[in-house]
Amino acid sequence: MDELIIRQPDDWHLHLRDGQMLEAVARFSARQCGRAIIMPNLVPPVTTVAAAHAYRDRVLAAVGPASSFEPLMTLYLTDQTTVAEIEQAAADPWVHAVKLYPAGATTNSDNGVTDPLAIEAVLGALERTGLPLLVHGEVVDPAVDIFDREAVFIERVLGPMLERFPGLRVVMEHITTAQAVAFVRSQGERLGATITAHHLLFNRNAMLAGGIRPHYYCLPILKREKHRQALLEAAVDPSGKFFMGTDSAPHPRGAKESACGCAGAFTAPVAVELYAQVFDSLGRLDALEAFTSRNGPRFYGLPINERRLRLQRVDQRVPEAFEAGDDQVVPFLSGEKIDWLATRLDD
Ligand code: DOR
Ligand code: ZN
Repeated sequence: MDELIIRQPDDWHLHLRDGQMLEAVARFSARQCGRAIIMPNLVPPVTTVAAAHAYRDRVLAAVGPASSFEPLMTLYLTDQTTVAEIEQAAADPWVHAVKLYPAGATTNSDNGVTDPLAIEAVLGALERTGLPLLVHGEVVDPAVDIFDREAVFIERVLGPMLERFPGLRVVMEHITTAQAVAFVRSQGERLGATITAHHLLFNRNAMLAGGIRPHYYCLPILKREKHRQALLEAAVDPSGKFFMGTDSAPHPRGAKESACGCAGAFTAPVAVELYAQVFDSLGRLDALEAFTSRNGPRFYGLPINERRLRLQRVDQRVPEAFEAGDDQVVPFLSGEKIDWLATRLDD
């Protein structure tokens, strides 16, 4: 198959940042995707409905009035988040979920939740209102090896949380392990998961063998091949519980190419192309649309997009870098050849 037309995808996990970076990166997702769940880990984080509204206005200004892109806003949970804020969020037309970062787990998570099982009143309010809880599923215990943090999170936190709150709706974000795939499959419809393109394409050798490649460093960290194989099976799983979430996470070039580089892969400029590459390599392009465009809306109770996206098998090169104000941002696979090109059918 050299060409296919799919319903326009949505990105169910996206970092757009703010200021100059937002201005630089918003257009990429707005071209490919109808909607995106916008991560709230700004500095300071988006912790209130009022702050989410203000951020939404900045995102809409950055994509411009001609775009039909819909940012789906999220709130960042802290130890101080109140039940009243959750109730307001659940009733709000622009807020679609709340994000749980265990404090210290990743970029700008210092204000996150210190003990996710202790925020019982907030979890109860989420369960009652049906507002989804999006989890960064890694423990922060320094005694736990970085490659095990997701599996341990399932045992210590997510399993007990789902038992305690049987009606809570949860998305396990950017899953990276066979344990996460098995766990998501073992639960009912109320648990879904996003999978990034970079975790589907690469194992940890890509980051560490033959030199350290900082643009492959992200959290949760790339795992060994057997885990990638489990993710590939999940991506084509007919259950509909797994969907596209790029976790595209731009950082200025200097913050990545550094003695202590930031976590994040900036995949947004070629996100759908990278997923097409994955499904093509499996001989399962027939399953791409469910993953990119149908499963997510079903979980979130939203209609699928009316617009279409065309994917063509065309050799192209990922641009080396983009300007971001006075800085540069380097896309994932910068300068490398990829096999697919996505264009909107209404272009
Ligand atoms: O690689 C990542 N980058 N993982 C995260 O969880 C956060 C993200 C970011 O905001 O840079
Ligand atoms: Zn993220």
